[in-house]
Amino acid sequence: MSMNAPRGTQDILPGTSEKWQYVERQLADLCRRYNYKEIRTPIFEHTELFQRGVGDSTDIVQKEMYTFEDRGGRSVTLRPEGTASVVRSYVQNKVYGLPNQPTKYFYMGPMFRYERPQQGRQRQFVQFGIEALGSDDPAIDAEVLALALGSYEELGLKSLKLVLNSLGDKESREAHRDALVRHFDPHREELCADCQVRLDQNPLRVLDCKKDREHPAMSTAPSILDYLNDYSEDYFEEVKKYLDEMGIAYEIDPNLVRGLDYYNHTAFEIMSEAEGFGAITTLSGGGRYTGLVQEVGGPETSGIGFAMSIERLLMALEAEGIELPIDEGLDTYVVALGEEAEKAAVRLTYQLRQAGIQVDKDYLGKKMKAQFKAADRIGAKYVLVLGDQELENNVINVKTMATGDQQEVALDEIVDFMKKQLIGGE
Ligand code: HAM
Repeated sequence: MSMNAPRGTQDILPGTSEKWQYVERQLADLCRRYNYKEIRTPIFEHTELFQRGVGDSTDIVQKEMYTFEDRGGRSVTLRPEGTASVVRSYVQNKVYGLPNQPTKYFYMGPMFRYERPQQGRQRQFVQFGIEALGSDDPAIDAEVLALALGSYEELGLKSLKLVLNSLGDKESREAHRDALVRHFDPHREELCADCQVRLDQNPLRVLDCKKDREHPAMSTAPSILDYLNDYSEDYFEEVKKYLDEMGIAYEIDPNLVRGLDYYNHTAFEIMSEAEGFGAITTLSGGGRYTGLVQEVGGPETSGIGFAMSIERLLMALEAEGIELPIDEGLDTYVVALGEEAEKAAVRLTYQLRQAGIQVDKDYLGKKMKAQFKAADRIGAKYVLVLGDQELENNVINVKTMATGDQQEVALDEIVDFMKKQLIGGE
């Protein structure tokens, strides 16, 4: 048995976890500005929710779910994505009946998919996502797209591409579906085994196949955009109009189908165009869904959302050489020598912390010189030195590490003094 973390998972250690916290704070703040509120749903759900929500014919449901029987014999699944759970919660809590609509949520948390791990693809990854439920206004599609793009731009990313498509409404998709079957059927035997099944179950999925990507019939496949009925076409035009209004650039890709079954109308992905980003260039994806709320037992209500993984966001930041403003240093380090000084140092450290100051001290019984070295290595801004001499005189020596300046401060004034130095006074 291996004692390493399972394949496709990772430890996020100090040095990196600060980046996560920073990014998570920025994203939460962006959501606050757009008035999306946080929702937290369970990490596991009844398996049926994903089978019906995400779709039986998707790779996620067919091959990638962490499904197990709990001790009560119920089949449960670690969530592979957030949308189905959010919609389940929206229905279960009858949120659709509350006065303030649409309902706008954001979420952040681990998702699980049994995929082949590679750079940017893990078995446990953290998704940040949003869902707006209860509005059919194309302006909210544009809002979701703006927030999705904004979450990268806020952090300084530039090499981004927004790719947009419309999957139309049910009528449009059925017409397109028939056209796809007519188009691919003569090539059925040349397609991979999965696609042969897809052709019967959900022919749109064929367009998303990684194995058959190079098949000549792919490039000549009928485009959904030629099968949109008037309502779907108008809807798509409106979404584009609002994007133009905000000055948001996009590219139309009629082959963008997404890997989940619940989409209609607007579908989109954001790609990184940064050199060295890696083989997988999709940063995030999302779109509009109509049947999902009903599928889970609610009234006919549509929603739109998107999700990204924080892992890929951090990869993009690295590829574009963006340094996040993270201070890994320490404000204050207390150096003490001698039994009495040690006691005073414990008390002082506690008092400083209570006053809101970041402070640490030695716990390895190091000599004075080694304590200074440790303070330097940690990146302390101030070192407070307490020796027998200082104690006797009721003072403490304050060293500013950047300049090397030293000054003596009365022990009973040190907390206020440090507050002024670090926080700018009361
Ligand atoms: P998705 O395209 O399956 O959509 O995933 C969205 C994003 O999650 C991807 O673009 C990627 O950033 C990240 N992601 C997915 N799988 C992995 C993985 N194995 N490792 C690392 N990152 C991954 C959804 O999940 C939909 N629920 C999005 C949505 C929300 N649609 C409407 N609302």
